[in-house]
Amino acid sequence: MTAAPAPVVVTGTGTDVGKTIATAALAALARSAGLDTGICKPIQTGLHPGEPGDADEAARLSGVRRVLEVRRLPDPLAPETAARVAGLPQSTLEELLGPIRRWLGEPSGPVSATSRLDLVEGAGGVLVRLGTDLTILDLALALDAPVIVVTRAGLGTLSDTELTVRAIEAAGLRCAGIVIGSWPNDPDLAERSNLEDLPRLTGVPVLGRVPQGAGALSPTEFTRDAAQWFHDDLFDALR
Ligand SMILES: Nc1ncnc2c1ncn2[C@@H]1O[C@H](COP(=O)(O)OP(=O)(O)OP(=O)(O)O)[C@@H](O)[C@H]1O
Ligand SMILES: [Mg+2]
Repeated sequence: MTAAPAPVVVTGTGTDVGKTIATAALAALARSAGLDTGICKPIQTGLHPGEPGDADEAARLSGVRRVLEVRRLPDPLAPETAARVAGLPQSTLEELLGPIRRWLGEPSGPVSATSRLDLVEGAGGVLVRLGTDLTILDLALALDAPVIVVTRAGLGTLSDTELTVRAIEAAGLRCAGIVIGSWPNDPDLAERSNLEDLPRLTGVPVLGRVPQGAGALSPTEFTRDAAQWFHDDLFDALR
């Protein structure tokens, strides 16, 4: 059995851009393609024990069963802030990496780089602190993971997306591409233009567009439709 391939980190231009839904869509597609698929949320904030977190929601929609949430903090804040206001210790890279590496080492069968996809969803945008001086970029570097950027569709997304891609590349990481977290049924001029401008300005492709309202589909419908939301060469872009 070979070592598990690097996971893919899913970050975004901010909170509420659709990272969880995009992660679910990528996972659904990977499962349909026969890949052993896992979903990890290193730190979940804003929820109490027993409440379904982002990883649980993405797993529900996609049918994925290999799920890991490393740490949960009660207040709906950036993780570093949530730990501070709760009077709890800050997370360290080692404390997050250890469980993630163990989880990555626990496949449900023999693995190779093309038979498996593990997705790691960040919290909020790319520079949100997971702990003191710790961002999702540090985790991606330690895991040798390419990074996907989930972004908004409309006016204002160009600068946010370019800043995010530049921060990823400045950290020495590879940005595999962009996924639009919620694509409207009737796109306006800005949204249509962004499809052309996003790849031109960032230098990375738009790998997919999750339609608005997709989160309300049943898991069966969600998985059935997910293949239509991404480019055919999606998995090549992730390798
Ligand atoms: N394509 C979509 N279809 C339906 N609902 C969506 C879609 N994209 C986002 N949403 C909704 O928008 C809200 C924010 O999306 P989501 O939770 O995926 O954001 P996020 O980027 O993961 O945020 P966080 O930083 O909190 O993890 C959620 O209520 C979600 O259900
Ligand atoms: Mg989320």
